[in-house]
Amino acid sequence: MAESFYVSTPIYYVNDVPHIGHAYTTLACDVISRYKRSRGFDVYFLTGTDEHGQKVETAAHANGEAPLELADRVVKRFQALWDKLNISHTDFIRTTQERHIHTVSEQFRTLEAKGDIYLGEYEDWYCTPCETFWTETQLLEGNCPDCGRLTTKLKEESYFFRMSKYQDQLLEHIEKNPDFIQPKSRRNEILSFVREGLRDLSISRTSFSWGIPVPGNEKHIIYVWFDALTNYISALGYPEDKDGLFEKFWPAIHVIGKDILRFHTVYWPTFLLAADLPLPRKIFAHGWWTVEGQKMSKSLRNVVEPNMLVDKYGVDAIRYFLLREVPFGLDGDFSHSSLISRINSDLANDLGNLLSRSTAMLGKYFDGIVPAPGKMDLLDQTFCARFPTAMEEIDLLYNDMAFNKILQHIWELIAAGNKYIDETAPWALAKDPAEHERLGTVLYNLLEAQRLIALQIAPFMPQTAEKILHLLGADPEAKLQDKDQWGQLTAGSHIEKAAPLFPRIDSSD
Ligand code: MSP
Repeated sequence: MAESFYVSTPIYYVNDVPHIGHAYTTLACDVISRYKRSRGFDVYFLTGTDEHGQKVETAAHANGEAPLELADRVVKRFQALWDKLNISHTDFIRTTQERHIHTVSEQFRTLEAKGDIYLGEYEDWYCTPCETFWTETQLLEGNCPDCGRLTTKLKEESYFFRMSKYQDQLLEHIEKNPDFIQPKSRRNEILSFVREGLRDLSISRTSFSWGIPVPGNEKHIIYVWFDALTNYISALGYPEDKDGLFEKFWPAIHVIGKDILRFHTVYWPTFLLAADLPLPRKIFAHGWWTVEGQKMSKSLRNVVEPNMLVDKYGVDAIRYFLLREVPFGLDGDFSHSSLISRINSDLANDLGNLLSRSTAMLGKYFDGIVPAPGKMDLLDQTFCARFPTAMEEIDLLYNDMAFNKILQHIWELIAAGNKYIDETAPWALAKDPAEHERLGTVLYNLLEAQRLIALQIAPFMPQTAEKILHLLGADPEAKLQDKDQWGQLTAGSHIEKAAPLFPRIDSSD
């Protein structure tokens, strides 16, 4: 039976419309999912929307809408964008769905029955935009230490989760599992936070009504993060698990942005520990995008709208750029000039030229018919040998979500292909009839190399990979794990000269 693999994006708030920050997390999960599928894994890829809480309630009322009306409207924007970006999710969860509400209520009941949830009184500083309580000492000049905005003092009856009880267990887990939180800098941040001590966590509110009521005490609404984090198991049908999805896929790998690290690495694992459930396999926090050097914000009117980018540059160019430009754990800056220069140099030049040069030569010297390879010289052997090695290295890099390094490795293969053309000089071989077999070997190797390159870029640029594989008459479904893959391109088949894969963009456009 195929090995299972579960990856999730955060669920996105519906009070905001999707921007490149949201697209980034979702794309990364899509790339991992596509890669794992190509390696034969049975993949569950979950995304969705976070629709409850004060933030959504306030945004809806400001629009003169009911919160669910707002959610129904905005959720369509997210779903349409995921279609446009070619996202291959298995499931889309909305926290207003019955299946989710059921799991959250059950989870609350279980922890309460165990004595890990109790009723108390809360008095602290609340930041509404972040939906987070802060103690007096955590505030920065009276404001939220995360976003710098105003906080308000709230005193209310509240249910508490005994998070403090799980402090040692959590600490031990983080210490014993160096890859549980990645990258390392984030792990260190959380280690010191947990070592400072965990307080019990307020997990209900009475100050607003848009959310899931506490079972048996309906004036309380379950805290939006207790509600939202549970999506990762409600989507699998926990606790009943009628379809066996929970048994098959849990635990997951959670991909998140660095701003929601604590919720995922402290709150969520302690909820799971209390419910006697296995902890996530990994939580990876990526960095944030700024735009042309500035923080992206509605008030600065610089929010980068992914639909517009896709319309202008094409979906694969955007998918490539976002994951190539910046190491996944670090912050990065989005600028039109760097996007255009990546498209021109990496896509139009390196990748596009390799394909058009080789297919043009095949047309010219062999009427477009793939020749059978003959004897391999040392130069050919060295070139071919790069492929299995690169593939092994790439496979390891996927464990660290080092997308930019993976793409660098693939582009080294592309550069090696272009260099192989220069070194073997097919135009010179073509002049000498005695070198005809050698010329055939060189062209075969070049085309075969591009079949393997296309399979490697497929998770990042599915449309482009399909175009290349289709042109080469190769199987787009070929699995990557076959050890000895070289040589699967069929001699005797006909290949057309490739049209440019990526037209060059004039930066003055
Ligand atoms: N609803 C919560 C998540 C609940 S998960 C159980 C939430 N939603 S969000 O819509 O505000 O943010 C979702 C994700 O988008 C986060 O991972 C966040 O880091 C990411 N980004 C938002 N702006 C971003 C950038 N400018 N750059 C990169 N990612 C950014 O938080």
